[in-house]
Amino acid sequence: MSKKPIFQPNPEFSKTARIKNMDEYYALQNKAIEDYEVFWGGYAKEKLDWMEPFDTVLDESKFPFVQWFNGGKLNVSSQCIDRHLDTRGEKTAILFEGDRGDIQKITYNALSKNVNKFANLLKEDLGVTKGDRVVIYMPMIPEAAYAMLACARIGAIHSIVFGGFSSEALKDRIEDAQAKVVITADGAFRKTKPYMLKPVVDAAITKDSSIEKVLVVERNNEEVTWVEGRDVSYTALIKNKSDICEAEVMDAEDPLFLLYTSGSTGKPKGVQHNSAGYILWAQMTMEWVFDVKEEDTFWCTADVGWITGHTYIVYGPLAMGATTVMFEGVITYPDAGRPWKMVQEHKINQFYTAPTAIRVLHKMGENEPKNYDLSSLNVLGTVGEPIDPPAWKWYYEQVGNSTCAIVDTYWQTETGGHIISPLPGATPIKPACATFPVPGIMAEILDPKTGKKVANGESGYMCITRPWPSMIRGVWGDEERFITSYFGDVVKDGKPVYFTGDGANYDEDGYITITGRTDDVINVSGHRMGTAEVEAAIKKHNNVAEVAVVGKPHALKGEGIFAYVVLKSDSVEDEALEKKAINGVIKTEIGSIALCDAMVFVSGLPKTRSGKIMRRILRSIAKGEAITQDISTLEDPSVVAQISKMVNG
Ligand code: PRX
Repeated sequence: MSKKPIFQPNPEFSKTARIKNMDEYYALQNKAIEDYEVFWGGYAKEKLDWMEPFDTVLDESKFPFVQWFNGGKLNVSSQCIDRHLDTRGEKTAILFEGDRGDIQKITYNALSKNVNKFANLLKEDLGVTKGDRVVIYMPMIPEAAYAMLACARIGAIHSIVFGGFSSEALKDRIEDAQAKVVITADGAFRKTKPYMLKPVVDAAITKDSSIEKVLVVERNNEEVTWVEGRDVSYTALIKNKSDICEAEVMDAEDPLFLLYTSGSTGKPKGVQHNSAGYILWAQMTMEWVFDVKEEDTFWCTADVGWITGHTYIVYGPLAMGATTVMFEGVITYPDAGRPWKMVQEHKINQFYTAPTAIRVLHKMGENEPKNYDLSSLNVLGTVGEPIDPPAWKWYYEQVGNSTCAIVDTYWQTETGGHIISPLPGATPIKPACATFPVPGIMAEILDPKTGKKVANGESGYMCITRPWPSMIRGVWGDEERFITSYFGDVVKDGKPVYFTGDGANYDEDGYITITGRTDDVINVSGHRMGTAEVEAAIKKHNNVAEVAVVGKPHALKGEGIFAYVVLKSDSVEDEALEKKAINGVIKTEIGSIALCDAMVFVSGLPKTRSGKIMRRILRSIAKGEAITQDISTLEDPSVVAQISKMVNG
């Protein structure tokens, strides 16, 4: 018997769920194991509207560069819009709630018109054509979704940069993708006050930039600087556009978007997703993991700047014809009852958020859920980081009234959609446990040394042993990095397999629990942050000689950033001021999301004789743990005691 409590699915919910019990789950998974291509080919035919049918299901001849549904032609914006117009044209596609409570209900018919106009604007006024890269640096407003779908409609590749990134981070991403256009807004509203985005874009576009045009959507109508010949106004141009725009005929494997994410080097990777496989899995996971029904309203609180926002605010819900909620504001403003008020008012059925948000909502408003009618909810989701049992318990009992399933969805930017998750009508859940692979996903925890599946009760590397449709297709402009980042660490039966970068274990019942990154990537509030990226930023401060950054458990954020800094000068007059200045550099180079929670000035770092920083030791010190590692191989072992004393006294 398992030691962790098990929560059975709500029998009422299971009755109408798409996957009703574990027998049905195993039957599906066995079908995929027995004939992988029949499994996926069948769903691709059933779920997608093809302009031309595909010839092959999966081509692995150039593995790890794989191709799905070759020969097939389709358009992702048509999947999300056009095919719904006959049956649900007047249904709300996007339910937008602004920061100040302003509401817009955009039907599929209206979405079609808005996206077509936007697509015509991109083509006619900005000269965007198929294959061009378009950077989107936008607040959470409907125009961000229109921009994505308009790019998809004309075959342009969008690359969304989260609005919290700084101008330097934006510039790097523009340059790496050699983007032609930026779509932005003057700014938006946060806690009822206007904030700005356009100045960040202005600072990111230098003289030799690849950017030719900047499209500015007017949201808060604050004054912005205008660069003649480069900047164009959305309001001025959109009104004269035709609302008819033929969808470009795209190959199944034409790129849909790039999304930059942190890895273990200083430079973010442009993760590439292509058309058919991505949209198929976005739709199928909406159906299987959230079990969204025709009349349901689905709310994912992510920002469109992250993969969760791509797949579960825009592409997934719209591909299946659901109503998706988009929220501009802050979930704890004006108080921690805001999301529950929204659930009540919009009768939201599935609510999907990050453990960080759950911890904050719990802390700031433990009893708030009681003040609202949350009876519309039937599935609660979490994503982005491991959820701790107390947060899980509160979410389950107080928000879900002990009747909603909690789907702890494990996945990554690179996987495009969920890969390991409970299924709400089928899986008996254990708190804070991602449970089992979603049907069709061949995920296993492998021993990195032998490539063999580890036994129950053991831990290893979370791997995916067969390509799946929404798998990353490449790192933009860097084939080698794609291979070495994902296919270099684990070999099974003589063949490299996809390694997620995460450690995991099977419990005594074979349930999967994700234990966190095995590489130098930390997870701050559910956002991936490369330690090398933060270190590169800190090194730009002129008084920094050396730096090492590690993650440290943080009550709300999951992990916080802890920096060990060796200064060039022997001493500083005001340590607090110097730390502030260093954080200031991080803010300029990356953005506020990468600010250090703690920083210590040390005289040296623990390094091996070959100069490698022993981060494991620094992680232990940051956590206040005793040092058990062998430090005799260090260049200067005494440094460990010195640092430890400084940090832990
Ligand atoms: O470490 C895992 C963690 O988030 C990483 C992926 O981050 P990103 O690409 O930014 O995508 C986040 C949203 C999908 C993973 O490598 N992670 C994600 N979901 C979970 C998780 N860790 C534990 N449990 C999860 N449910």
